[in-house]
Amino acid sequence: MPSRVTAIGLFVLACSVGTLAIQQPSGGNPEAAKLRNPVPATPESIAGGSTLYRRRCAACHGIDAKGGPPKEDFLKPASNLVDDKFDHGSSDGEIFFVIKNGVPPELVMDGWGERLSDTEIWNIVNYLRDTAKKSGGQTAKTAKDGIYKGEQAERGQAVYQEKCSACHGDDLSGGGFAPALAADAFSAAWTDKRLDTLFTAIKDTMPADRAGSLSPETSADLVAYILKFNGFPPGQESLPSDSAALRHIVIAKP
Ligand code: HEC
Ligand code: HEC
Repeated sequence: MPSRVTAIGLFVLACSVGTLAIQQPSGGNPEAAKLRNPVPATPESIAGGSTLYRRRCAACHGIDAKGGPPKEDFLKPASNLVDDKFDHGSSDGEIFFVIKNGVPPELVMDGWGERLSDTEIWNIVNYLRDTAKKSGGQTAKTAKDGIYKGEQAERGQAVYQEKCSACHGDDLSGGGFAPALAADAFSAAWTDKRLDTLFTAIKDTMPADRAGSLSPETSADLVAYILKFNGFPPGQESLPSDSAALRHIVIAKP
């Protein structure tokens, strides 16, 4: 998708100029959060990330990635990377950004951007996500597990027709610059991604001409409709409208 490539290009440019790194606020990084993980979490990616993690990161963050003591008394301990708590943002994009650029000002957590390629860093992100899933002891839910209610999808459909179809098409097949949200295009863009990513993209960036105008509830209804349209079955539970809960649900292949 050209827009994504451009976004990453601009992002890399901004990093190399160093502006983003200096402005990085503690407690999350909205710019980096927009960065989508372009590397599917395949077994190869996770295995590659695991090897790199053990070689480069385990000495500080622990072999199980649950964190480690400070290297010196006056330094911060190395964070747990497999719980849900991230001081510098918990989206894939924010974790990528921290690994690439480090945590200023101390930089005890040094940036790895000059030693690891972007793909290698995404592999580590995929590895950490996979490990978190396993060490949480819960089998991650997927979008196939009946995660939204039928009436949610109906509400979503009504909003879609009113606010989205002009650009994305009545049948979600896309149009102009607006990508298709169904069939192969949907699978290619979203399979193995976490549901909070789709939810946040809709809530924060759509409709493109009125970004930020949708409530979390309406955004969840729209996600439900898009899932239904792509063949994911409805179930008994409502799809939550908060990204922390949606992070635990993976968009599998329909
Ligand atoms: C020299 C020790 C050291 C090494 C090596 C190291 N880290 Fe860190 N890392 C830290 C410390 C200390 C922090 C906490 C920094 C802070 O919050 O100020 C941290 C923070 C982080 C964070 C942010 C966590 C949060 O809560 O937001 C991530 C992600 C991370 N490290 C990933 C990695 C990865 C991946 C590697 C290997 C490529 C790595 N680190 C290597 C010490 C290290
Ligand atoms: C004015 C035209 C327009 C409208 C209206 C619009 N979109 Fe979009 N949408 C776009 C364009 C252009 C893109 C691709 C650029 C981008 O990702 O920002 C896009 C991208 C998307 C994406 C993919 C985002 C990503 O990060 O890959 C989703 C999902 C989406 N739109 C859903 C919706 C939903 C749901 C609505 C209705 C609430 C909507 N859009 C309304 C134009 C529109």
